[in-house]
Amino acid sequence: MKMKFNCSSLIFLCLSTLLFSCTKDRTKQCDIDPSYSFDIAPFFNTYCVACHQSNSSSGGVNLDNFESVSNHIDHSISEFRDGTMPSPGSLSPEPSQRDSILELLNCWVSMGKKNN
Ligand code: HEC
Repeated sequence: MKMKFNCSSLIFLCLSTLLFSCTKDRTKQCDIDPSYSFDIAPFFNTYCVACHQSNSSSGGVNLDNFESVSNHIDHSISEFRDGTMPSPGSLSPEPSQRDSILELLNCWVSMGKKNN
C-alpha cells in the first residue's frame, strides 16, 4: 500500500516536472512581447498590404487589419519563411532582417496575438 502510493507520487512528480519544463521552454523562446501596432502592422503595411487589402485581396487574403491578420497569420508566416511572399520582385526586407521579423511574428502568435 505504502509502496503504491510512493510510486504514483513519483509518476505524478515526473509528469508535472515534464509539463512544467515544456511550458517553461515555450515561453523561454520568446523574450519579446511584440505589439500589433508597432511591430506587426508596420511589417504587413510595408511588405504585404499593396496586394492584400480589402480592395485587392490577392489569393483572397486581406492583411490590412487586425482581424484578418490574426486569421491569416500562420499561413503568412509560412509564406514569408519559405520566401514565397512577398511575391518575387516586390519590395522585400533585407536578408539580415528576416530572422528578427520571423521572431516578431512567431512571438506575437505565442504571446496570444494581442491587439496592442
Ligand atoms: C506584389 C503583390 C504581393 C505582395 C507584395 C504580397 N503578396 Fe501575398 N499573394 C499575392 C498573390 C497574387 C497571391 C495569390 C496567388 C499566389 O498564391 O501566389 C498571394 C497569396 C498569398 C497568400 C495565400 C497563399 C495561398 O497559397 O493561398 C498569403 C498567406 C500571402 N499571399 C501572404 C503575403 C504576405 C505575408 C505578404 C507580405 C510579407 C505578401 N503576401 C505580399 C501577391 C502579393
